[in-house]
Amino acid sequence: MDGGFISTRRVKELEPGSRVRVRGWVYRHRDLGRKVFVVMRDADGILQLVADERYTPREYVEEARRATIESSIVAEGVTSRDPRAPGGVEVKLEKFEIVGLAEDFPIKGGEGIDYLLDIRHLWIRSRKMTAMWRIRQSAFKAFREYFESKGFWEVSPPMLTQAAVEGGATLFKVDFFGKPAYLTQSSQFYLEAMIFSLERVWTLAPSFRAERSRTRRHLYEYWHLEAEEAWAHMEDEMRLVEELVAYTTRRILEERLEELSILKRSTEALEPALETPYPRIRYEEAIRRLQGRGVRIEYGDDLGADEERILTQDFDKPFFITHFPVELKSFYMKPDPQNPREALAFDLLAPEGVGEIVGGSERQDDYEALYKQIESRGYDPRDYQWYLDLRRYGSVPHSGFGLGVERYLMWVTGVDHVRDTIPFPRFRDRIYP
Ligand code: 4AD
Ligand code: MG
Repeated sequence: MDGGFISTRRVKELEPGSRVRVRGWVYRHRDLGRKVFVVMRDADGILQLVADERYTPREYVEEARRATIESSIVAEGVTSRDPRAPGGVEVKLEKFEIVGLAEDFPIKGGEGIDYLLDIRHLWIRSRKMTAMWRIRQSAFKAFREYFESKGFWEVSPPMLTQAAVEGGATLFKVDFFGKPAYLTQSSQFYLEAMIFSLERVWTLAPSFRAERSRTRRHLYEYWHLEAEEAWAHMEDEMRLVEELVAYTTRRILEERLEELSILKRSTEALEPALETPYPRIRYEEAIRRLQGRGVRIEYGDDLGADEERILTQDFDKPFFITHFPVELKSFYMKPDPQNPREALAFDLLAPEGVGEIVGGSERQDDYEALYKQIESRGYDPRDYQWYLDLRRYGSVPHSGFGLGVERYLMWVTGVDHVRDTIPFPRFRDRIYP
């Protein structure tokens, strides 16, 4: 055909009236006897191929007939406009080859969740999931663009560590040649070490939490976007966070409208988040709001998923809760000099019931004070010697935050379980596939 001069084209690039070669996988298949319709997909989209005895050599009509769902194929033919075809263009086949004939595909629609999770390695091919991976990639790209534009340095902290960042209860222990080591819960301490030369640093890396709670928003392994800034106070950090979330959300709306529509996500719900600043309420006010709605809660109680969901009803965009009682937050946070019972800590909550997507704070930068804070929580200061050291050699005020990428994507895409925002989720008792 054409002396082999046809270039292989992506489904997205096709225009009517040209001779093309395409390759991909069989997505739908319909055999009408003399005519066979094969809808194929590649990484960009879907395309209808038609084998018809009037213009397709018989051997290729037979080959198209034989192609099972998910078989990989290469096809050649002429494109023509067809408003009934998905994408508006179809290919009249002149050649059709099966590269890998698929066995009976185990997903046909209507299967139960546990069955599907066992064949996640096949399920991830679905159109909805593919839309999610593409949105996810746009988020990763936007994070990087944002930090680049703000003059931050991207750094690479370790995942194997020797002490807890966020408390011992959720540590995954590993055997480090007979001694205990842990999978990191957060790269924060390593980012803090790096601000003393680079001042503003960030990383996007996995974090691990051995969570007992089986909720819609907890994974054992998640992607953590973290940043740390020398000289920054809590309010500076909150501005960085809200601009990051607004920027990333805007980029996703610009690049991924089609994918959002495949996921049936209302883009209107995301619009308010493009405008900063985001509202700020203090923990104390959050408690009062909850009490006003009849929730039995008092100053000093933690805000769980249920309380957060109720609070999100008051806002149409992400909002901050600040100034938590120190006991509710991590040992490294700086108490508010105006009111030392409260930490210079903030959470960012996403609306529509999603709740916390970011946690951040100003850090305790004084050696003696940090030493006392470590001891008062019952931790051993020897486990934190290098972290304490950072306060001995040119300490500076500094702040940072961590954003849970899957939590953020849950809100952006509107899916109701965090497992659907990551290809191979680690949650409940699952570590397969
Ligand atoms: O609030 P967290 O525990 O804060 C920290 O780890 C800080 N050291 C971050 C920092 O200041 N550098 O976690 C930060 C975010 C949460 O707001 C949430 O979005 C996400 O990480 N997260 C989880 N996401 C999925 N599954 C889990 N089990 C998560 N635990 C936390
Ligand atoms: Mg938190």
